[in-house]
Amino acid sequence: MSIEPIDLNSPERRRDAKLMIEGLSKTYGGGADAVQALPPIDLCIGLGDFLCVVGPSGCGKSTLLNIVAGFEPPTSGRAVLDGRVITRPGAERGVVFQQGALFNWLTTLENVAFGPRARGIPAAEARTSAQEMLEMVGLGSFAQKYPYQLSGGMQQRVGIARALVNNPEVLLMDEPFAALDQQTRELLQEEVRRIWQETGKTVMWITHSIEEALFLATHIIVMSARPGRIKAAYRSHFSENPDPLVGATAEFTAARREIVGLLREESQKARLQEELA
Ligand SMILES: Nc1ncnc2c1ncn2[C@@H]1O[C@H](COP(=O)(O)OP(=O)(O)OP(=O)(O)O)[C@@H](O)[C@H]1O
Ligand SMILES: [Mg+2]
Repeated sequence: MSIEPIDLNSPERRRDAKLMIEGLSKTYGGGADAVQALPPIDLCIGLGDFLCVVGPSGCGKSTLLNIVAGFEPPTSGRAVLDGRVITRPGAERGVVFQQGALFNWLTTLENVAFGPRARGIPAAEARTSAQEMLEMVGLGSFAQKYPYQLSGGMQQRVGIARALVNNPEVLLMDEPFAALDQQTRELLQEEVRRIWQETGKTVMWITHSIEEALFLATHIIVMSARPGRIKAAYRSHFSENPDPLVGATAEFTAARREIVGLLREESQKARLQEELA
């Protein structure tokens, strides 16, 4: 089977970590209304790792990503990037959300050039890098179109170009393809795999799709029902296989079955929690 359990906090991984999550927990609200989204968790992400996070709805995945993005403070512990504690958003971390989150009044090119402009890059230079990024995601000829003139899949690609244009070291993706149909999703997954191989970025990618995780990841964590502990962690090798039909192999099916089994238990617990709430 091409996934194997791994200790993501081993001494070697701690030594080589690009991004370290240390005793990080999050509780929203206080008193009787307090909701513990994350118990203290520890996790090391290495340079160039593609970490996929799967877990039942409401288990704290977005909470974890938002803390790493610097949008929210943790309740305890810390997220550390290259030895520096994360306290706010930064251009070295690019974020892509589930829905495009594009500016409707700007063209595709202007949307992508917005970040560099906001960082003080001169207009001509910002437009040139924006155009390059649009070409990277296969939308070079759509630069002058407005978001409403693009399909959902194209808008997600613009979102990825917008994150990549700042040349971030880390990409943080919160279910970026959740709203897409299966065919578009599979094509974009191949594109993301190519971009990741070309750029060597460190990626944290949340998904509800186990196939997507197995296709893209070098590492996968399965989270428990809220509060989301790390229930299992794997090293995965399918992303090294150039065959786009790797999903049809017996090894892939076996890996999928293992993760589905873990997730099913947790989803049932999550459902019960919702019913009792
Ligand atoms: N700003 C907030 N204030 C209060 N509670 C919150 C807030 N954000 C999230 N929560 C709660 O924290 C828990 C975890 O939420 P989170 O969005 O991280 O889950 P998730 O794993 O991303 O779920 P999904 O798969 O549905 O996106 C949920 O119970 C949610 O209701
Ligand atoms: Mg979420």
